[in-house]
Amino acid sequence: MKRTLGTCYYPEHWPREIWADDARRMAAAGLTWVRIAEFAWSRLEPEPGRYEFGWLDEAIAVLGAAGLKVVLGTPTAAPPRWMIDRHPDMLAVDAEGRPRKFGSRRHYCFSHLGYRAECARIVTELARRYGADPHVAAWQTDNEYGCHDTTISYSDVARVAFRTWLRARYPGAGNDGDVGALNAAWGNVFWSMNYDGFEQIDLPNLTVTEPNPSHALAFRRFSSDQVVSFNRLQTDIIRAHSAAPIAHNYMGRITDFDHFAVGADLDIASWDSYPLGFLEDRVGAGEAHQLRFARQGDPDFQAFHHDLYRAVGRCAKAAQKGGLPRWWVMEQQPGPVNWAPYNPAPLPGMVRLWSWEAFAHGAEAVCYFRWRQAPMAQEQMHAGLLRPDSADAPGLDEARQVAAEIADAPDVAAAQARVALLFDYDADHAWQIQPHGDGLGYFGLVFELYRAMRSLGLSVDILPPETTDFAGYDLIAAPGMMHMPERLKRDLAASGAQVLYGPRTAARDCDMCIPVPLPPDIPGLAVTVSRVESLRPTAPVALTGGGQVVGYREFLETGADIVETTETGEPVIVLRGRQTYVGAWLDQTGWRHALRRLCETAGIPTVDLPQGVRLRDTGSERFWFNYDTAEHKVGAVTLPPVSVLREERGR
Ligand code: GAL
Repeated sequence: MKRTLGTCYYPEHWPREIWADDARRMAAAGLTWVRIAEFAWSRLEPEPGRYEFGWLDEAIAVLGAAGLKVVLGTPTAAPPRWMIDRHPDMLAVDAEGRPRKFGSRRHYCFSHLGYRAECARIVTELARRYGADPHVAAWQTDNEYGCHDTTISYSDVARVAFRTWLRARYPGAGNDGDVGALNAAWGNVFWSMNYDGFEQIDLPNLTVTEPNPSHALAFRRFSSDQVVSFNRLQTDIIRAHSAAPIAHNYMGRITDFDHFAVGADLDIASWDSYPLGFLEDRVGAGEAHQLRFARQGDPDFQAFHHDLYRAVGRCAKAAQKGGLPRWWVMEQQPGPVNWAPYNPAPLPGMVRLWSWEAFAHGAEAVCYFRWRQAPMAQEQMHAGLLRPDSADAPGLDEARQVAAEIADAPDVAAAQARVALLFDYDADHAWQIQPHGDGLGYFGLVFELYRAMRSLGLSVDILPPETTDFAGYDLIAAPGMMHMPERLKRDLAASGAQVLYGPRTAARDCDMCIPVPLPPDIPGLAVTVSRVESLRPTAPVALTGGGQVVGYREFLETGADIVETTETGEPVIVLRGRQTYVGAWLDQTGWRHALRRLCETAGIPTVDLPQGVRLRDTGSERFWFNYDTAEHKVGAVTLPPVSVLREERGR
């Protein structure tokens, strides 16, 4: 596979006279891809049914003539104002019951059938017109599903669709569903919440106190399914007219829908990487860490998403036929962004480092957002590769450098890692509904474990919970997977790998109730969680081997070997055969101890990396990244401040 670069361009923002020069400069900088049109609906259809495709025909021709490949976005994330007159009830509704108004973007409810029909119409027009265009080399559906908290909508149309979804999930005779089965599964006898029919079931917002967690989880699953079917509507249409691959651009730490399920209908997984924005806004690290990496970004956050979206790419249609997983960075920060609490400029060298890190994790393309900084509207404080006056911005030089370097580098040989980490969107929903303590959440737990793995120099594959083939993995971690199907328990136990479970793995049945026998009930692992507690951040519990329990802890009854206890002698980590259960949320020291021991048993080499230094192996290379502003030495390797080192390895 060849590595490529690209950018995001908005011809509708600029006079036609400069398109050709823009295209020429993109190609001269070494860019291959240009993504366009994902917010251009009002220019494509200024009035209902009156299309204006002339400008897009010309833009595609101009870009194509310069040798660029176009990624054509469907414009459904930005419906024009007239759409709201046609469908006043298409706006999403927030948890307080307020419609989310026109005037920015993503102002639609996934459940609105009228809006879906409008989307099908504009996508059909585009797919018919450009499906065979030689310059349209890929498609993007919509833009960032879930952005601005838009997956969940408490609208009237969502309520109707939710009831239909519930009837299918709790089927009865005929099409009616079995509301008794739902009452039993949700435990609705509690607080007399029983329903007499599905038409009585409302959405779980505006209740006096918290809604039944079973109800809340069902609604999260329904909302996720709505994103999947909304996306599928578009991919079915595009495929009928075009052989070009279809992508969607996912986000960082947005878990509101099952990306693996959406990814199954696509050919390419892609995501939008904003390392400095994320550090300020999403990583959740302490002040000292934020200061240290303010101009570099968190050393693990991008890597985690690269690995996650490589896994989503593996669910894609092409990959199912045996190809390499296809995944891209569709948007890469090229300078300061506009949307985080603070928006510093990256240190020189970081745009290059971020680009190479994506390639080290298997990206096929990295596209910079955006080509030219906009002088108007919401994102005028967001850097581009060019300044608003068209002069080069600092990011462009680094993009040029990466372009020259990838042109010289050999093709990528992908390799399966020896360490796997399961990621389950459903578990994230379950933790959000029932965190049991402030600051506790599934994403945070998995990310902490991933960070500990990376700090030991491990390359990691992330896997979806549907995985059945674990061949080749020597260590598999499945922390916090609140509901773990029996099939997966059996497959993991039989995998031959060291398997790490807990905390809260298999803690709930599929309807969000505590199962009996008590959790985790994993075959061959003699451990029962008898009770749990959450802890204030200021009240950690020390472990005998070093490190601490922070935030959450389980009390274990066990016949397995006890490998770690609290200083007061209560078991925290237990082992039976190849299965390990960790009954607590550990700090980094605690996780590293646990992982080192497991890696030693599995024969996986580890190396203690300095803070900010990371490595990643592909099939043919070892990459070193130094996110720190100090030089570091690891063995014989010297890493200057803010640097990338690529070593070729024998295959
Ligand atoms: C992304 C989005 C882009 C742009 C960018 C700014 O989330 O897809 O359209 O808004 O952020 O950083």
